[in-house]
Amino acid sequence: MARINREYRKLSAGYLFPEIGRRIKIFQQDNPQARVHRLGIGNTTEPLPPSVIRGLHDAVNNLSAAETYTGYGDEQGDQDLRESLARFYGKRGIKLDKDEIFISDGAKPDAGNIQSIFSSDNLVAFQDPAYPVYVDTNVIAGRSGSFDSGTGNYGGFVYMTCNSENGFIPEPPQEKVDLVYLCSPNNPTGAVAGRGNLRKFVDYARSHRAVIIFDAAYSEFISDPDLPRSIYEIEGAAECAIEINSFSKSAGFTGVRLGWSVVPRSLVCEDSEPGELHRSWLRRQTTFFNGASNIAQRGGVAVLGEQGRQECAAVIGYYMENARLIREGLQKTGLTVYGGINAPYLWLKTPGELSSWGFFDKLLHEAHVVGTPGSGFGPAGEGYFRLSAFGHREDIGEAMKSIRDNLVL
Ligand code: MLT
Repeated sequence: MARINREYRKLSAGYLFPEIGRRIKIFQQDNPQARVHRLGIGNTTEPLPPSVIRGLHDAVNNLSAAETYTGYGDEQGDQDLRESLARFYGKRGIKLDKDEIFISDGAKPDAGNIQSIFSSDNLVAFQDPAYPVYVDTNVIAGRSGSFDSGTGNYGGFVYMTCNSENGFIPEPPQEKVDLVYLCSPNNPTGAVAGRGNLRKFVDYARSHRAVIIFDAAYSEFISDPDLPRSIYEIEGAAECAIEINSFSKSAGFTGVRLGWSVVPRSLVCEDSEPGELHRSWLRRQTTFFNGASNIAQRGGVAVLGEQGRQECAAVIGYYMENARLIREGLQKTGLTVYGGINAPYLWLKTPGELSSWGFFDKLLHEAHVVGTPGSGFGPAGEGYFRLSAFGHREDIGEAMKSIRDNLVL
């Protein structure tokens, strides 16, 4: 008799973005004339730049001739893409071997799968609020107790509260934990950890033989040269941190799908020697994954070329100008706004006593603007709301005008 993985029953709700999609659909059925402005999910909207399109076309053309056709590649990714990424880190003074870089079909699967190389009795700490994938996948893997609807917490997890008092960047936990998930620039709050913040986490992890899982998917949105774009800018991080990154937001690959993880050979945990976690992730990927699309990987090489980097930087600049317009527009309406300076997300305090979902409904019904309720990212997100700067400029302008004209505050 087969039995279900009962850990799924512990999950407190459906995945956040499909739930938002469901509510928009109902609104549109009831209000067919309304033009809805979507600033909810961080989904890219601008076309891929010419050099990247050329890289993708070249890969497609290669598939059309027997001499250049390729089938399966290495599960951990094509060598030239891993070499390009090693050079990309090298330009920032970070020395990585190409074999410490694993190509995947995006940061989300890596963020979900990485926990599988750690023991199921590890104690895990999360930023609160956080990208839901970290928490949910650890629930499914059996590391949590049950969900407490009163506190919004799962038993057995450690929550590192991010609020306006700590600038949405927490201190390391008081107690000893085994795994720590960090995301900077942060989704959802848009806060960016400074070197001093990351230094504290690296020191913490080294002293407890804990491992940091550092999600750097938004690192290319940092323009302040003093802010770290990789945890490996902090000395000693290669012993205690895995970094996950993505071409989705920085190069418009949300639909193309391409990401990578760095699992250094020097990484250790309480009961492993250097090299074992690296080998475990290689074993995991070669067992479960047949490699990212060869077309996408050629696109990735083009992104990392000189022209690709310049062109992608221009698109990032476009989104960050959107962020500025949203930030200033919201501030003019009197709302309190955080983030949106070195990150494509804006995090606003809901007005009055409105809950996050209450503000979602109000914004949708009054201004026809969709955002993401902060409570969907964890209990400390209650009373906050996220807007995404990914969108066409015209639509962002119309959304801000609609908020100004129609939102009753
Ligand atoms: C988000 O809106 O939080 C992200 O776009 C979702 C994702 O990257 O999976």
